Amino acid sequence: MTDTFILGIESSCDETAAAVVRSGGKLVSNVVASQIATHQPYGGVVPELASREHLRAIVPVVRKALADAGHTYQSVDAIAVTQGPGLAGSLLVGISYAKALAFALDKPLIAVNHLEGHIHAVLLEERQKGNHELIFPVLALVVSGGHTHLYLAQQKGEAWSYENVGRTRDDAAGEAFDKVAKLLGLGYPGGPVIDRLSTHGDPKAVQFALSQIKHPDRNHRGKKSDDRPRVDFSYSGIKTAVLRYVETHNMKEAIEARRKALAQIAKPKLEDYLANCDKQTLNLVASFQCSIVEDLMAKTLTAARIYDIATLFVTGGVAANAELRQRFEQAAAEQGMPVYFPSRPLSTDNAAMIAAAAYPKYLTRDFAALDFSAEAGMVLTGATK
Ligand code: KG4
Ligand code: ZN
Repeated sequence: MTDTFILGIESSCDETAAAVVRSGGKLVSNVVASQIATHQPYGGVVPELASREHLRAIVPVVRKALADAGHTYQSVDAIAVTQGPGLAGSLLVGISYAKALAFALDKPLIAVNHLEGHIHAVLLEERQKGNHELIFPVLALVVSGGHTHLYLAQQKGEAWSYENVGRTRDDAAGEAFDKVAKLLGLGYPGGPVIDRLSTHGDPKAVQFALSQIKHPDRNHRGKKSDDRPRVDFSYSGIKTAVLRYVETHNMKEAIEARRKALAQIAKPKLEDYLANCDKQTLNLVASFQCSIVEDLMAKTLTAARIYDIATLFVTGGVAANAELRQRFEQAAAEQGMPVYFPSRPLSTDNAAMIAAAAYPKYLTRDFAALDFSAEAGMVLTGATK
C-alpha cells in the first residue's frame, strides 16, 4: 500500500498545532504553539484571547509543520482538522483554515473529534514502536483539562467506534489541577506544577474523601447505553475541600505573597516554586494529587473489571502526570493487563493525534463536506461509515 501523508490541524483550546503523520503510524513533523504566556496572567484560558492567538499562529505553524516534514501544501494527501469539542471561536479558526486549504488544493478534508484524537495519540506511538498487536476489548481513559471520560474502543475493519461508559459529572480532573493551583497561587496551568511539587510533600498528610457516584446520570437517560453500568467521576468536591483547608488553616496571606513573588519571575523554575512553598502547602499539593490519581485509577480499574478489559489506554493532558503513569503501570502490571500512554509531548494537545485519527477515515473515505461547522459540545460515538 502506498504511504498516505495527512496534515493535521488542532485549535480546540489554547494550543495552535499542526503535524504531518504518515499512514497513521509515523510522526513526520509536529509543531505546537502554546498560548500559556497569554493566558497565565488570568489563571485560565480566556476564549477571546485564544481565538486571536490562533489567528496569529495558524499560518506559520502549518508552514513549519510542512517544512519540517519536507512537504509542501500540494504534496500531502489530505487535511484533517479538529471539529470539536472545544471553544467554538478557537475551533473555527482551525476549521476555516483547513477548509480554505482543502478547497484551494482540491484535497480531501477530514473532521476529527478531539477526544478520538487523544485515543489515537496512543495508537500512533504504539505503531511507531512496532507494536501492531492490540488486544481488544480496549478501555481508554481520556483525562484532560476539559474531559474525564472512559470509552470502550472498538475497531471493525478500518473504522473505529467508541462507547462512553464513564465521564465526569462536574469538573474534569485537569480542571481540578488548574483550579487548585490557581487557588494556591501557583499559576497556570496547574497540572505540571503540582506534578513536580508533589514529590516534595507527604501525600498522606491531608485526607480527602472523593465522591462515590450512586445516582443515575440524568444526561444519559434514554440513551442506548442506559442499561450498561457506568463509572462516573466528580472533581468539584475536592477543589472545595482544598479551599476549606486553606481557610481553616489561615493560608490566604501566604498564598497572596506567593502569587506576587511568582508573578515577578518570567518562567519560574522548580527551585522558585519550592522557595515560595512551605511544608504545609507541599503536603496539601501532594495529598491532592494522590487523591485524584487514586480515584482515577480505582474507577478505571473498576470499569476494566466490569467490562472484562484486555488493554488500557490512558491519554490526555493529565496522562503526562508522573504519579499517574507510575501508579497505573504498577497496578496494570499486577493485573497482567497492558497499559499504554502517549509520550508526554503527545499527551497534551497536539495535531499529530488529529492526523493519526484521520487515517482510518481516509481509508474509509469518511470525508467532510466543506459546509461542516465547529461543534463545541461534540460527543464521541461511533464510526460515521
Ligand atoms: O489535553 P490537554 O492539553 O487539553 C485539553 O484537552 O484539555 O490537557 C490540558 C490539561 C490541563 O488541565 C493541565 O493542567 C493538565 O492537562 N496537565 C497535567 C499535567 N500536564 C498537563 N495534569 C497533571 N499532571 C501533569 N503533568
Ligand atoms: Zn485535549
